[in-house]
This record gives sequence, C-alpha cells and structure tokens, in this order.
Amino acid sequence: MQTIETERLILRPFKEGDAADLFAYLRAPTASCFFSLKLADLAEAETEVRKRALDEGRLAICLKTTGRVIGDLFGGGEDDEDKTTSVGWNLNPQFGGQGYAFEAAKAFVDHLFRVKGFRRLYAYVEDHNKSSQRLCEKLGMRREGVFVEFVSFANDDAGNPIYENTMQYALLRREWAAQRPLAPSARG
Ligand SMILES: CC(C)(COP(=O)(O)OP(=O)(O)OC[C@H]1O[C@@H](n2cnc3c(N)ncnc32)[C@H](O)[C@@H]1OP(=O)(O)O)[C@@H](O)C(=O)NCCC(=O)NCCS
Repeated sequence: MQTIETERLILRPFKEGDAADLFAYLRAPTASCFFSLKLADLAEAETEVRKRALDEGRLAICLKTTGRVIGDLFGGGEDDEDKTTSVGWNLNPQFGGQGYAFEAAKAFVDHLFRVKGFRRLYAYVEDHNKSSQRLCEKLGMRREGVFVEFVSFANDDAGNPIYENTMQYALLRREWAAQRPLAPSARG
C-alpha cells in the first residue's frame, strides 16, 4: 500500500529498522484481540516486521517529528467480491489520548474508499473496548450489532475459554462521502 501523509503522521509499509518500535507495543498487547500477536523478544519482532513489510494491508503509523513507529493499521489487503474489507488499529499506549489514532484512521479510511475503491468497511470491537468503540464512532461508523460470546482470545485460570461479546461497526463509502466529498474518480 502506498504512503499516506497527514498533518502529524506518515502512514507507510513496515520496513527494516522498525523492530524495536513494534516490540515496544507488541511485547504486551493491551487489546485481547491482539494477545496472539505478543512478541517474546527483538528477534521475533524482526521476523514480524519482515512479514508485515510484505503485507499489502498493513501500514505503520509514524510520527513525522521523530520517525518513530507508534502503531499500525490494517485493512484493504484482500478485496472480497463485494468490495468489503475489515479494518483495525493498534497504537502504542504511550502515544494514546493525543488524537493520533483518529488522525491515522481517518486518512486510512479515506484512502480505502477513494484510492482503493472499497465500498464497505467493517470493524470488530469487543464490548469492553471503549476507546476503539469511540474511535469507530468518531469515524462515523454505525454499530450494526453485537455477537454474544462470539470469540475467545484467552482462557481462565481453570483453562476454560473466556468468550467475549463482539460488536460490529461498519461504514459505507456513500456514508463517508456524505460527510466528506469524494473526488469524482472515486464515485461509483
Ligand atoms: C483504540 C485506540 C487506537 C484508540 O486510541 P486513542 O489515542 O484513544 O484515540 P484517538 O486518536 O481518537 O485520541 C483520543 C483522544 O485524544 C485527545 N486528543 C488530544 N490531543 C488531540 C489532538 N491534537 N487532536 C485530536 N485529539 C486529541 C482527544 O480528546 C481524544 O479524545 P475524544 O475521543 O474524547 O475526543 C487505542 O486505544 C489502542 O490502540 N488500543 C489498543 C488496541 C485496540 O484496542 N485496537 C482495537 C481493537 S478492536
């Protein structure tokens, strides 16, 4: 995916040299849906960066001021037959609460609709993940429903799966366009 520039950020593919920044937030993922991404050490982070560098649907969020990777976005890697893709975000908590996630996600959504031609975006968010729900809502995504005891990312002390309630949020290109005019070439 191509590089996207915003006021404070550069969104770009992962590249060699990003491992320490990636490790900084994947050594202990905070969202249950990302527990499986946990990295044990810098060597694992280097392997993960190499994998991500080849992933068309993954962008690193970089601060313009320092060049540091402060999180990532995913979506648009696979186009299903209905021009629909899931989207997601993961920010290093050290950089939370400063509007970076919204700035990045807004530009990313705009890119997926205008440049990549997607028609519908959706996100799965656990019911306890208020910051991600808030982000979806700021992006204008609609809450479409809640899947009760939908998925398990961890077991309890007795080894039984903990099932989570998962919300689905979605946004259509026409809904996005109604909020923000699209370039003529992206309409359709
Ligand atoms: C979900 C997540 C990306 C949200 O990050 P965030 O930093 O809280 O989100 P935002 O970028 O929207 O910033 C939040 C606050 O920054 C504040 N802020 C501070 N300076 C700002 C600025 N210059 N511009 C805009 N907002 C600013 C805003 O007030 C905003 O609060 P509001 O939503 O009440 O308006 C982050 O919590 C995260 O990565 N969590 C772990 C992974 C995760 O849960 N991923 C989603 C799985 S479904």
